[in-house]
Amino acid sequence: MEVETAVEARPGTDSTGASYSSHLDLWNDEEKKTSWYKKTLEHWAAQDATVNGVLGGFPETSEPDLRESRRFLHLVRRPTDPPSQRGTVLDCGAGIGRVTQGLLVHEFAQVDLVEPNARLLEAAREQIRDPKVDRFINSSLEQFHPEEGRYDTIWAQWVLLYLTDDDLVLFLERCKKGLTRNGLILVKENVVLEGQWIVDRDDNSISRTDAMYKDIFQKAGLVLQHELKQAHWPSDLVPVKMYALRRA
Ligand SMILES: C[S@@+](CC[C@H](N)C(=O)[O-])C[C@H]1O[C@@H](n2cnc3c(N)ncnc32)[C@H](O)[C@@H]1O
Repeated sequence: MEVETAVEARPGTDSTGASYSSHLDLWNDEEKKTSWYKKTLEHWAAQDATVNGVLGGFPETSEPDLRESRRFLHLVRRPTDPPSQRGTVLDCGAGIGRVTQGLLVHEFAQVDLVEPNARLLEAAREQIRDPKVDRFINSSLEQFHPEEGRYDTIWAQWVLLYLTDDDLVLFLERCKKGLTRNGLILVKENVVLEGQWIVDRDDNSISRTDAMYKDIFQKAGLVLQHELKQAHWPSDLVPVKMYALRRA
């Protein structure tokens, strides 16, 4: 009997109007995969190191985003833990540290940031003068290995959309090793709730469907503990969802 390991092929489109019968065709050879990541790095090298820059020209979404993230965090964590015992959090694809500054330093004892663009990371270092911030790590997630057992929470927001499916599964598997015993991975991403996935060719990002994310979480051996749709969100933008995941 054959063991089922293949990812389900899902149809979708990109921002140039091209249609694909499978999202796997986006990355099905080394050349496509290399140019997929290259485009993203070039895009971020050209953006301003500001909230407007990291939010793609929608700075007004930062406040409702952070408010709903705080609500989700309070929903999923044990409410009895005092801040000093809330441990260490990793901010993935941290950009200029918007999430660290607006949420994580208020909710955790210690914060690390990981970000591939050295200029954005430097802006984070300059702007966040909080002794709770420990490490500024200059790396892409597909190359990053979180330190084993260090993190009570791993926060990944608007960054998993840059990873290929294979790299995302591998990254989440490494994150599992980076967690403390009851640690959580919290994901906040653009999620298509009706219809097919969409790729934005300006930055090579994929807005996956809810089913695609759930497949990936399962493949990585993660269990979905909570999920929440971002409220107060402009109707002309792709919806945003939050997922709380723990080890199986
Ligand atoms: C839309 S911004 C979001 C920044 C931050 N998470 C926030 O919500 O304010 C995307 C960030 O992901 C980073 N990024 C892009 N590709 C990445 C990758 N493969 N690994 C890690 N970070 C990546 C970019 O450099 C950029 O800082």
